[in-house]
Amino acid sequence: MQCYPTASPRRYGLPQVFPTSRLQLLSDPNNYTLSFLLQCPTKMPYDFKGKKVLVTGGSRGLGEYICVKFAKEGCNVAINYVSSVDRANAVAEKVEDHGVRACLIQGDMGIEADVKRTVETAIEILGGLDIIISNAGYTRFSKFDDLSAATVDDWQTTYAVNVLAQRHLLFQALPIFNSNPHGGVMIMSSSIAGIKTSGSSMPYSVTKAAQLHLMKCLAATQGPKVRVNAVLPGLLLTEWGLRYPQERIDQVTEAALLKKATDLDDCAQAFVDIARNTSMTGQSVVVDSGLSAA
Ligand SMILES: NC(=O)c1ccc[n+]([C@@H]2O[C@H](COP(=O)([O-])OP(=O)(O)OC[C@H]3O[C@@H](n4cnc5c(N)ncnc54)[C@H](OP(=O)(O)O)[C@@H]3O)[C@@H](O)[C@H]2O)c1
Repeated sequence: MQCYPTASPRRYGLPQVFPTSRLQLLSDPNNYTLSFLLQCPTKMPYDFKGKKVLVTGGSRGLGEYICVKFAKEGCNVAINYVSSVDRANAVAEKVEDHGVRACLIQGDMGIEADVKRTVETAIEILGGLDIIISNAGYTRFSKFDDLSAATVDDWQTTYAVNVLAQRHLLFQALPIFNSNPHGGVMIMSSSIAGIKTSGSSMPYSVTKAAQLHLMKCLAATQGPKVRVNAVLPGLLLTEWGLRYPQERIDQVTEAALLKKATDLDDCAQAFVDIARNTSMTGQSVVVDSGLSAA
């Protein structure tokens, strides 16, 4: 039998300490609710109310959707951006419309000192940290099959943002995650480019693959109070996705099993659903309209 969290004795105003034996209660025809409760394991749901969330790259695109989703759930949100302060401000207003706190933190996720300061500032302003959505990513669009198209500098910058930043973010957050009663959650914005030999550039595809392996390594090594997972979107029609020529967008859309680009709202919802799921770690969740399955 499935037991839902709302069926807790406290919710029903029932006593926490039962005065009679389980057998007596189960045989009492008037004690249906209690007998049902006694047969079910109880579980407290992961409560988002008042949780503190840091979203990197939260000023637009997928990050903006994620900020607003968590705000709707009652979370306070630290919005990281690198250069678009006005865009970040507009997202903060949307977050605050849900009656929660928002703060802006400028910082380049490709620079270790900025990552450190971003996490420290989020903890200081929000008064703690429960969830990190590591959404900022980097690519320089270049011809995938041309080894001279991406420079060594491109490889290094892409690696810094897509891989190293994940390590730095969790490293900074670990002490507070371990001290939180409910631990901490980290969810990375990955990409199906990390599981396919295609994407906006070869450095992007390779570093998104490395990011996924790092995600599993972090989940495997950083203890039971830390959940680390990744969402792998397909084509998102953000400013990033719209840098592809229309012909390429049409090709990708046609190739997807669902004949559409990845819906931004659906993709952002996956982050909320994973954060809520207390039994999931080390996992990659693909949200791509069936593009990678085609
Ligand atoms: N778009 C797609 O088709 C697609 C597909 C699969 C996966 N993804 C992944 O989804 C994530 C978000 O992509 P998106 O499409 O939403 O991108 P986007 O629309 O270009 O937005 C990028 C966001 O990241 C911020 N940002 C960029 N570089 C940063 C840095 N070094 N440090 C901190 N913040 C930085 C930007 O801040 P500013 O506004 O200040 O510049 C902005 O908030 C990325 O990780 C990307 O790899 C995207």
